[in-house]
Amino acid sequence: MGNIVFVARELAGDETRVAASPETVKKMKALGLDIVVEAGAGKSSRIPDGEYEAAGARIGSIGAAATADVVLKVRRPSEDEIGQYKSGAVVIAIMDPYGNDEAIAGMARAGLSSFAMELMPRITRAQSMDVLSSQANLAGYQAVIEAAAVYDRAMPMMMTAAGTVPAAKVFVMGAGVAGLQAIATARRLGAAVSATDVRPAAKEQVASLGAKFIAVEDEEFKAAETSGGYAKEMSAVYQAKQAALVAEHIAKQDIVITTALIPGRPAPKLVSREMLKSMKPGAVAVDLAVERGGNIEGVKPGKVADVDGVRVIGFANMAGRIAASASALYAKNLVTFLETMTDKATGTVAPNLEDELIRATMLTHGGAVVHPAFGGAKKEGN
Ligand code: NAI
Repeated sequence: MGNIVFVARELAGDETRVAASPETVKKMKALGLDIVVEAGAGKSSRIPDGEYEAAGARIGSIGAAATADVVLKVRRPSEDEIGQYKSGAVVIAIMDPYGNDEAIAGMARAGLSSFAMELMPRITRAQSMDVLSSQANLAGYQAVIEAAAVYDRAMPMMMTAAGTVPAAKVFVMGAGVAGLQAIATARRLGAAVSATDVRPAAKEQVASLGAKFIAVEDEEFKAAETSGGYAKEMSAVYQAKQAALVAEHIAKQDIVITTALIPGRPAPKLVSREMLKSMKPGAVAVDLAVERGGNIEGVKPGKVADVDGVRVIGFANMAGRIAASASALYAKNLVTFLETMTDKATGTVAPNLEDELIRATMLTHGGAVVHPAFGGAKKEGN
């Protein structure tokens, strides 16, 4: 029998996703691995234990984690969970490492080889392992669905014998993976869509989805994209110009969806209370950046809050509200990564420390924090 992989049930209150699907269990079996799924792990993603069993997994309790060579999770394990794992185990999850140095040090002390999926480099080889993309894509879709559900009017223009309903005006701020999917979804529902971003590459993508691009296109804008494709934090001068443009545009919108993020930084504040006040009665806003501090002033994490007459949706973990789809894609991302470190002949998992995917994502190894962005290269306790 090969190495044991433990698929944990998520303990965080709002986490509905799971780190393996019946499809990925089959895949892991084919890699020579022995899979134990914690009872009930797939429940909130509509995957009964029996489906995992049919795919070749055993169902176990948390006690089985102590025997596991690999633990697959959605969220970073808590101290309690870490205490259940054996030293030397490989743990793969969305680790939310920024600002959580102590938790990372805890994984080092426990001797875990831990990997943060969100640090996967955005290179062609790793595209199928990119959890930020797979989850943001669904979150962007779901943001529009949530907005439409709260909005008291129709999204598409409807011409009926009883009169005409105008199309909703939807403005998407941040046209990355989530934003582009939000644009596409709102367009499919028939809304009139506009969007903004600080990266020049976004302009063409927005236009190709049939939305209008709105942005301050100065010299700073032309240089705002990093080689990794991410946004840089903009200067105060740019932000002021951007705010003036947005203020004018937002007053005419029915729905605003914000998705703006800068890696490793708090979310930029893009929508002020003044801007919300200027919106039409019945307006709706969705803040997908809420877990990183939010793009919208007054957003309440986990709630739909009335902020100056606008219903502001601040659901955290938007991908988790479409859990069955999100889990299927997340599980696929994980298994594709796990495959890169598995010797199929023996069913043994051994990360190659020279591999750039390993180097980019490995937080802790051999009792130490190893990732340079989180104080790596120093031995714990020194
Ligand atoms: P993200 O989640 O870090 O940020 C979301 C969006 O917010 C970005 O488009 C960013 O430019 C924008 N933003 C930041 N500050 C802003 C501000 N002040 N105002 C307005 N917008 C602001 O980014 P995400 O979604 O992860 O994607 C970033 C880029 O990476 C995209 O171009 C995407 O297409 C690309 N990408 C490339 C992949 C690859 O494998 N090559 C895979 C996935 C994405």
